Amino acid sequence: MKKKTFIIANWKMNLSLSDSSNFLKKICKFKMPLGNLFEIVICPQFLLIPNLSKLLGSIVKLGAQDCHYATSGAFTGDSSIKLLKYFKCKYVIAGHSERRILHKESNIEIKKKVTLISSEGLTPILCVGELLNERKKKLHKQKIISQLQESIPTNLKNIIIAYEPIWSIGTGTIPSVYEITEVTEIIFNFLRKYRNHTKFHIIYGGSVDSKNFKLILEIKNMSGALIGGASLHIKEFKKII
Ligand code: PGA
Repeated sequence: MKKKTFIIANWKMNLSLSDSSNFLKKICKFKMPLGNLFEIVICPQFLLIPNLSKLLGSIVKLGAQDCHYATSGAFTGDSSIKLLKYFKCKYVIAGHSERRILHKESNIEIKKKVTLISSEGLTPILCVGELLNERKKKLHKQKIISQLQESIPTNLKNIIIAYEPIWSIGTGTIPSVYEITEVTEIIFNFLRKYRNHTKFHIIYGGSVDSKNFKLILEIKNMSGALIGGASLHIKEFKKII
């Protein structure tokens, strides 16, 4: 059986109400040659979600870029998983490097989010990845293993792990096939060995575009990509698909 391929758009804090609606309407009309072997997921900023959830066809799924680890409470400025579920989100990103760095999110907090997302029946997309100086000092392996160890609960049902080297996000620089393969293997072996009840997929994120996507997909155990910049332009996104 052929493996499933995920094309996940991380729109970050971009696109207006009308631009995002037009974008989604266009993707919903795409002809998908391989049908259900592909999962196309759009992760817009929170305030776009209610409107986009009304426009979903069968081709595209909705995801969120974050959620709080509690279902409700005194958490000013946060958003709850219950509402994300109500608005038909099936996926939630947890631990994106922009949240880890700009919002000081720790592995402990991310693990609580991953646990909640999964217990509510949604799929967590956990981001892991190293800084440039960690790679230069050959500390990337250690960094990624500790992120996996500390953010993935045991007995989790399913998860998508996105390997996103921080130095590659939004820079146009992508690691070599060898470097991505090495990390994919680390993630694969970790999950097989220490989280063997968890169904998982591994994807790559960081400057993915229509030119490099095919090469990335050919990597062993690679199931797709988390795409930022290139997912904001309909022509480019269509080319990737
Ligand atoms: P990029 O972003 O594709 O613009 O590098 C990826 C991400 O941050 O998920």
